[in-house]
This record gives sequence, C-alpha cells and structure tokens, in this order.
Amino acid sequence: MPMEFSEAAKKQFDAIVAKYPERQAALLMVLHLAQDEFGCLDLEVQSLVAERLGVPKVLVREVTTFYEMFHEHKEGQFHLEVCTNIACHIAGADRLVSCVKKKLGVEVGFKTEDGVFSLMEAECLASCGSAPVMKVGLDYYEYLTEAALLSLIETFKALAPELGGRAYKTAGSEPHVGPVSGFEPPAPAAPSATSVPSAPPAATENA
Ligand code: FES
Repeated sequence: MPMEFSEAAKKQFDAIVAKYPERQAALLMVLHLAQDEFGCLDLEVQSLVAERLGVPKVLVREVTTFYEMFHEHKEGQFHLEVCTNIACHIAGADRLVSCVKKKLGVEVGFKTEDGVFSLMEAECLASCGSAPVMKVGLDYYEYLTEAALLSLIETFKALAPELGGRAYKTAGSEPHVGPVSGFEPPAPAAPSATSVPSAPPAATENA
C-alpha cells in the first residue's frame, strides 16, 4: 500500500501551504510535519512531500540533507544530540559522548538494538554560555556532567515504556531548558567583605 499522510496531517499540510504565497516556500514547515508524522524523512516520505507540494524531489532531498534537524533514518525514541562545537568541546563534551557510548553501547550516528536511544554529535545548539549542552526532543540539558547524564539516561529508560514506541518530545507541558534536576551547578560565590577594596583616604585641604 502506498504511503499516505493521515487525514489530520493532510489538513495540517494544506493549512501550512495556505500561509505562503508560493507552495515551495512551505517546504521547511511541511518537512517538519512529515517527520512528525512518519518518524523520519526517508526517500519514500521525501517523494510523498514532493508530490503533494508540487516541487522537484531533488529539492526536497537537498533541503532534507542540508538541515541537521531533519533525518532520513528513524532515530531512537530518545535521540541524544550532544553538542561538540567549540564551547561545549572545551567544557568536556567529548567525555559526555564517550560516557553515552560506554553506558549504552552505541556509536555516534546509530541507535541501540532496542531502538530506545540514538546518539548524535550536534553543531552549536545556541546555548554556549551554559556548555556543555545536550538536546533530547525539545529539551535542552545545560551544564551537563557525566553524573547528570547517567541519571538522565536512567530517567529516560524508565519513561520509555510509557511512550508506546513514539519518539520523546518533552516530559512536561513545556520543553525543559536548564541543568538536569538535582545536578544544578553551584551558584557563584558572593565577594567577601575583605575582598572589597577600601575607599581611598579623603584628600586633606592644604592651608
Ligand atoms: S558550542 Fe555548544 S551550545 Fe554553542
């Protein structure tokens, strides 16, 4: 049976396209929709998008493979995107990648045998001031340490059965942005009274 969007997704597709003066301009948004609908943008999904939007397949492929947020193969339910760009690299992102590899027995670009986790190295996630950072679904985990990462993996393992095979987006009503709960970095120490320079002596008036 040929692949097809659900009726609900077809309505969303048409609503997206109606917002743009030219159908081609809706491509990014309909690719997001297609990825949510089918779990990835493999060649069959790309053909379906091209046909429904009325654009060349090669254009859909170019856009799909250009943007990191689109993927041609199904990811794990928890897709761990560890930023390894410069700020995160300096803050220890490589250790985090190694930690995931060792804990889950998975290589970068692959998923675990049970399909629960996949691992990817990401480019800058625009949160360099709170490096190192990992994105999972819509969530951003900042100031990440190996201990926080291992704790998070256990949380995700416990959550996986509740997802019924669906990809994880976020646990709450809003995406999480910040450190893993319980692993917040210590607040910077307030300057002590002795470190405050004393005021210079008042100038005395010469007679
Ligand atoms: S370098 Fe990692 S968030 Fe920017």
